[in-house]
Amino acid sequence: MSFDAIDVLRAKRDGATLSAEQIRWIIGAYTSGAVPDEQMSALLMAVFFRGLSPEELAVWTQAMIDSGERKDLSSLGRPTADKHSTGGVGDKITLPLAPLVAACGVAVPQLSGRGLGHTGGTLDKLESIPGWRADVHEEAYLAQLREVGAVICAAGNDLAPADKKLYALRDVTATVESIPLIASSIMSKKIAEGADALVLDVKTGSGAFMKEPDLSRELARTMVGLGEAAGVRTVALVTAMDRPLGRAAGNAVEVAESVEVLAGGGPDDVVELTLALAREMLAGAGRTDVDPAEALRDGRAMDVWRRMIAAQGGDPDAPLPQPAEKHVVNAPATGTLTKLDAFALGVAAWRLGAGRARKEDPVSAAAGVTWTAGVGEQVTAGQPLLELHTDDPARIERALAALGGAIGVDTDDAPLPLLIDRIQGT
Ligand code: URA
Repeated sequence: MSFDAIDVLRAKRDGATLSAEQIRWIIGAYTSGAVPDEQMSALLMAVFFRGLSPEELAVWTQAMIDSGERKDLSSLGRPTADKHSTGGVGDKITLPLAPLVAACGVAVPQLSGRGLGHTGGTLDKLESIPGWRADVHEEAYLAQLREVGAVICAAGNDLAPADKKLYALRDVTATVESIPLIASSIMSKKIAEGADALVLDVKTGSGAFMKEPDLSRELARTMVGLGEAAGVRTVALVTAMDRPLGRAAGNAVEVAESVEVLAGGGPDDVVELTLALAREMLAGAGRTDVDPAEALRDGRAMDVWRRMIAAQGGDPDAPLPQPAEKHVVNAPATGTLTKLDAFALGVAAWRLGAGRARKEDPVSAAAGVTWTAGVGEQVTAGQPLLELHTDDPARIERALAALGGAIGVDTDDAPLPLLIDRIQGT
């Protein structure tokens, strides 16, 4: 069936409900190029202001899935589970989590993206490991899932291609921060990926898309509803992103921290969140009988990590890239560190070269920020608190500018609890 795009735009602009046929047609016609960017931009803005009803959103998401292929992982003969984070600063959790869950007997098919803006990208981080390749062909992907149990790689062009076009358009039309558009974008890719169970880490706070816990809860409920309706057991944790996770934000520095966690150490918050998400993934895949803490302690997760990195050409023993320049920022006062702003640190790491402004830009493997104390810990005036890493000393000044007001000692700021809420289907 064919429609006139202007009728569809006018209907949404005026607050009418779109029919399933209209939605399927416009997503398909936009993906094939029959509907141009200017008309889709107008529709996205209308959706931004008018929203989508639950019925419209279900059809919209399914149409995005149907623009490509839904993978079938049933031939693996073991349960599968995946996790998705809505994006944050220092959020390296996928790196220790995927091998940890695989070490507990559940396969983890992780099709990941690159970073854009102040939030880091999993593939960019892993690419700091010498030799590691993000591109894995279909057969090698299934073989790695069978033999190693975990793959983290780039999504191919057949995974929800409608989202690739829509996301790029939203990025330049100020229509990213819309709950139905974020939910359909994330869930179309995750449902198409084919895992039996999905755990969503929905971030909240300055470094997240959604700054307020209630909005993050609404996004979480919307995504859980879409996952369950598509037959994927889905649970969401709403977690803090008012401060960054762990002690490092960037590329190689986050790999190094993840390896510490896999070796049984690492910062408490990274370990706590990794274990909480691992327990949810294992429960979703029907494995409540295994304890992921044990697999971290006894080295099984580290073994899977090493095999997972080697399977994609990486050398898990190779030294990680080091920056040409380091710059130390001292603690401004003595007392309790009450604020370490996630957004400011993310922008600083990005300006040091860890992230990109445009999709085509290269990133620096060695760039990033590390810090010696987390929120709630004691600091002494003048002690080294932040270390800025970059290959290009000219970037330090702009990174320092991003950090203005980022650090608070004995201020009234009340940090969010790490685990804020858990949302499951009804
Ligand atoms: N991540 C996505 O994949 N899509 C969005 O819309 C936002 C975050």
